[in-house]
Amino acid sequence: VIPEHAYLVRDQIPLPAFDLPIEGRAGRHDVYPVTVTDDTAATARKLADLALRPRATIVTDDTVAALHAQPLVAALRGCGLTVDVVSVPPGEKSKSLAVAMTLLDKLALSSVGRRDLIIAFGGGVVIDTAGWVASAYMRGVPYANAPTTLLAAVDAALGGKVAVDHPVAKNLIGAFYQPVGVVANVGFLSTLSARQIRAGLAEAIKKGMIASPELFEFIEANLEGILAKRLPVLERLVRYASAIKCELIARDPYERDLRRPLNFGHTVGHAVETTTGYGPVLHGEAVALGMAVAAGISLARGWTEPGTYDRLITLLHRAGLPHSTGQLRVGLDVDAVIGSLAKIRQIRDGSLRFVLPLEVGTVAMTDDVTDLEVEQALLSHVPAAAS
Ligand SMILES: NC(=O)c1ccc[n+]([C@@H]2O[C@H](COP(=O)([O-])OP(=O)(O)OC[C@H]3O[C@@H](n4cnc5c(N)ncnc54)[C@H](O)[C@@H]3O)[C@@H](O)[C@H]2O)c1
Ligand SMILES: [Zn+2]
Repeated sequence: VIPEHAYLVRDQIPLPAFDLPIEGRAGRHDVYPVTVTDDTAATARKLADLALRPRATIVTDDTVAALHAQPLVAALRGCGLTVDVVSVPPGEKSKSLAVAMTLLDKLALSSVGRRDLIIAFGGGVVIDTAGWVASAYMRGVPYANAPTTLLAAVDAALGGKVAVDHPVAKNLIGAFYQPVGVVANVGFLSTLSARQIRAGLAEAIKKGMIASPELFEFIEANLEGILAKRLPVLERLVRYASAIKCELIARDPYERDLRRPLNFGHTVGHAVETTTGYGPVLHGEAVALGMAVAAGISLARGWTEPGTYDRLITLLHRAGLPHSTGQLRVGLDVDAVIGSLAKIRQIRDGSLRFVLPLEVGTVAMTDDVTDLEVEQALLSHVPAAAS
């Protein structure tokens, strides 16, 4: 006799006709909440709400662990969670298979199960690495992002692009694997250096430029407050930029379409990072220069007005972000940048996509930008009226 509580499934799945195609279906609808706060207790409550079981493993880096882990761990325990902390060395070097492997080893040797929460607590490096580990461990365990850099809060924590680097290329080993939630506490940003704030801001300026005149105006009007790390201003900035990124990725969450406005500034930006060896130039700084170059190309083509161009350059300038090659902390080999772009063009069957700004909130995407145009925009660029 089958006990009442047993879950009985009676089924009669029909066999397919001989010549009917068989289709594998795995439709999935991922929705996750994004919370922005300045309060550690609220951060812990939100993270605890995301946990299916009262147990979480925080993955962080040594710098963030020393600065911010203790109050978060205490607050999470206050919410009834059992919490473990695993820390990796800070810096891009930790975004590696080797470090991911040490995390997987720790998980495998612990009693963490497939319903236990991983909390990625750190900048983009921790978020990308912990997210990738979460995607792989037991074919995927839930993870939540608690970003601690402005770059991670406005960008890396959203969208579920998880990866580690390979010596051949950055982000080469990765997946799309969505978090169960994002909780951005701007209070954690108060210990960031001015340079890190500026670099994160570049990605927010980008979102204003491609999709939101209102966000762009907000940054213009509140720049001093942002750079001074005033929490109410940072909270609004992260809220606005997160909402815009979420809206943009919802249109194409798995990047099937190559026409991605979010790549504004990244074509040249990535080439700058590659040729300078990922280190001396921060990602946000490279993107700032890339945006200035794209705007310069657009201006030279007559696709944008000098007024729009000046508005972008002036904002980058006020934000202390590089908008000409001479402003980078290292010399830039322009020929190497062009060579790096040529290589991408080669890999992509001759096409290299550029996002060119037309107005604040309007961009055009095109494949026909020539090496000469890039070179001229990189070389001829005159710093903004040094205002
Ligand atoms: N997944 C995505 O969609 C996406 C988007 C953009 C960038 N990224 C990735 O993000 C990475 C860069 O992220 P990042 O700029 O946050 O770098 P990061 O994670 O290396 O953090 C920068 C430095 O700041 C320190 N730090 C972090 N939080 C701090 C705090 N609150 N106070 C003081 N110091 C703190 C870190 O220890 C580190 O030394 C890159 O690997 C990039 O590829 C991913
Ligand atoms: Zn970026």
